[in-house]
Amino acid sequence: MHLAASLFALYVGTVSSQTVPSAPSPEPIEVVELRLPPIAPSDATGACTSDVNPRGTGCIRREMGDHEFQAGDFTPDGNHVIVNVAFVGAPGAPDPASIYTGEQVILVKADGTNFTNGDHWKCLSCAVPPENARSLDEQKDYPHVFRSGDKALWGHNVLDCGGHQLSSDDCTPEKTHIYPIHWNTAADGSGRGGAPRELRLHPDDRHLGFSSFTATGGQNCYFGRLEFNADPQVGEPRVPRYDLVDVNLLFDPNRQKYLSADDKDLSFHDDAISVGELRGFSGVGDEILYIGPSREANNIDVYAVHVITGAVRRLTSHPEYVDPVAFSHDNQWFVAMDTRGSDRQMWMSGMRYVPPLIDVVTITVASSTRNNGMRRFFQPILIDRYGDRGNYFGQQVNAAGDGSDGAVNDPNWNGRADPAFSHDGTKIVYWQALVVSPACGGANPLPCPVSSSPGHPEFRLMLAKLTSRSPKTPPEPFDVPDKLPWATPFPPGSVPPESSSNSIQPGNYTLKGKFSGVATVQLIGDGGIDTVAVDYTNFSDDGKHFIDGWENVTRTILYPNVWNNKIDWYSDLVQSGAVNATKKTGLGGFHLEIDAVLNIFNANGTLTTTIDGVEYKQPANGT
Ligand SMILES: *[C@@H]1O[C@H](CO)[C@@H](O)[C@H](O)[C@H]1NC(C)=O
Ligand SMILES: *[C@@H]1O[C@H](CO)[C@@H](O)[C@H](O)[C@H]1NC(C)=O
Ligand SMILES: *[C@@H]1O[C@H](CO)[C@@H](O)[C@H](O)[C@H]1NC(C)=O
Ligand SMILES: *[C@@H]1O[C@H](CO)[C@@H](O)[C@H](O)[C@H]1NC(C)=O
Ligand SMILES: *[C@@H]1O[C@H](CO)[C@@H](O)[C@H](O)[C@H]1NC(C)=O
Ligand SMILES: *[C@@H]1O[C@H](CO)[C@@H](O)[C@H](O)[C@H]1NC(C)=O
Repeated sequence: MHLAASLFALYVGTVSSQTVPSAPSPEPIEVVELRLPPIAPSDATGACTSDVNPRGTGCIRREMGDHEFQAGDFTPDGNHVIVNVAFVGAPGAPDPASIYTGEQVILVKADGTNFTNGDHWKCLSCAVPPENARSLDEQKDYPHVFRSGDKALWGHNVLDCGGHQLSSDDCTPEKTHIYPIHWNTAADGSGRGGAPRELRLHPDDRHLGFSSFTATGGQNCYFGRLEFNADPQVGEPRVPRYDLVDVNLLFDPNRQKYLSADDKDLSFHDDAISVGELRGFSGVGDEILYIGPSREANNIDVYAVHVITGAVRRLTSHPEYVDPVAFSHDNQWFVAMDTRGSDRQMWMSGMRYVPPLIDVVTITVASSTRNNGMRRFFQPILIDRYGDRGNYFGQQVNAAGDGSDGAVNDPNWNGRADPAFSHDGTKIVYWQALVVSPACGGANPLPCPVSSSPGHPEFRLMLAKLTSRSPKTPPEPFDVPDKLPWATPFPPGSVPPESSSNSIQPGNYTLKGKFSGVATVQLIGDGGIDTVAVDYTNFSDDGKHFIDGWENVTRTILYPNVWNNKIDWYSDLVQSGAVNATKKTGLGGFHLEIDAVLNIFNANGTLTTTIDGVEYKQPANGT
């Protein structure tokens, strides 16, 4: 406790004396595609013939099922990237090639060389003896190499090469163990425990951050420690496993919720810790990265909260949608997967500095329209540690190219989770998926492109070299305590709270502009809030952007599917001052129905945002 308090004082001192430097200039970036294992012509047994792979070391599936293909980060030497793949087409046993089957985790060479057997990849999990890999968890997403280089996080499992570097010839299947991760949530330790998702490893190799759904589709985020349990006496599975212990709920009960009311006056609290979805850690692990409540209407951003002080920083502010992010190990840069540049979301979020009032009902929709089904609109963006500011919105990593089919900047290849920096800070790896039917072809106006990568896979793995940078030795990870000073302990037996970034009751309120004007706000609903209706008069927080007009939005959840939202939206907003902008619905309003799991755009009516004469319209249905 005393230690935490003194660390707090120390850190606050550091932060307040820090000034935000001017924006960096764009830098040269060279992007190449990394080679993957050969692609199987089909899933049929034996389809991976010696013509396709003369060495008999497997072929991978062309299509990508859910997380079947997913690239992660680098080994410490920066020469290998960890990737989850689905091997298919292997011959049956006893053919030695029969081991290359099913979902496996591999390393791919990132330096143009081959492993000793002549392949440019190596399977880490294939042929691990069954007694070394008991009761593996089915979840094998977000592969991540430990900083130590001898272990990997593989979904809800830890792959451990017994002290050998994963990339070395010494790391053989016989020396490899794979252990499931168990999160005990029962007071008596019984049962299978909780269902952590989107696990991210802290740079100290000991702690994890993760998200978990509540029964009603809400989400809480947690921080805990990995502890090896060689001989568990309770809970399932009862095999050697890693237990998640000392779990903290990432919520500070002593702070206000993000939106609060003092009688009839609403206020937003930028220091609220409201971790919507955990996205990982800063490079040294002094901050937790997450998607938080929007600070401007429908503008979803990434935030960082300090593990000790709980100080919150907004990292992105571009009106487009951001999701996966990864920091450089020296803590000075991050790369974000963002829809900026695609204009995907500008029709609803393009008007800046609108307070996030309608977000009480539109947040799910705003985070759904960014995709068209499996088609993401993300590209990797390199941003310095201080984040978007002024006219600085980072640099697109893969901007070079002519935009043609298969080019580095072909917009039909979309970024996916997670990108990563090499430990020395000179390289970034990211992967992309190609748009596929029904997001193209058929009734869709976008024709389906043919993959230009060898074997025509629907995914590709890209290496970006930051050619003007010199290699750096990464600093030591931040010494993070097991109990975060501001978080809520979450021992086994605790009940997950219903997460919400506000605690407001229906009623009539006002929100005063920090500079001028007022918004009168009606929050309508029976119990929860279904409708937000706002009237703006000369409303300005910054003295540069002034909003007049009104908007109202009603949300209906189409039970029993809690993910399916219908939105009835009416807007007539005018912004003056630093920009001239409008946000208007057409006659009869705008009506959207969208399932936040499927993300297929289906709307009637129109919603259009115009900024200094540039018009942004909603996407067409199904696109
Ligand atoms: C790696 O192996 C491939 C395929 O056998 C071969 O064409 C290539 O020359 C090898 N590369 C090096 C650097 O040895
Ligand atoms: C809120 O204001 C509206 C419009 O003035 C009014 O019709 C409504 O009755 C008010 N609601 C409450 C709960 O006071
Ligand atoms: C808006 O508020 C500013 C600051 O108080 C004031 O200068 C301006 O005249 C107001 N505009 C209108 C239209 O009331
Ligand atoms: C929203 O605006 C529309 C169009 O002016 C109007 O018909 C509707 O009654 C309004 N709804 C609410 C809840 O204020
Ligand atoms: C906004 O429109 C007004 C009135 O037409 C004009 O005077 C002003 O220059 C415009 N502002 C910008 C930023 O274009
Ligand atoms: C749009 O209109 C069609 C035809 O009237 C209707 O079937 C559909 O449900 C409407 N969609 C929305 C989102 O309102």
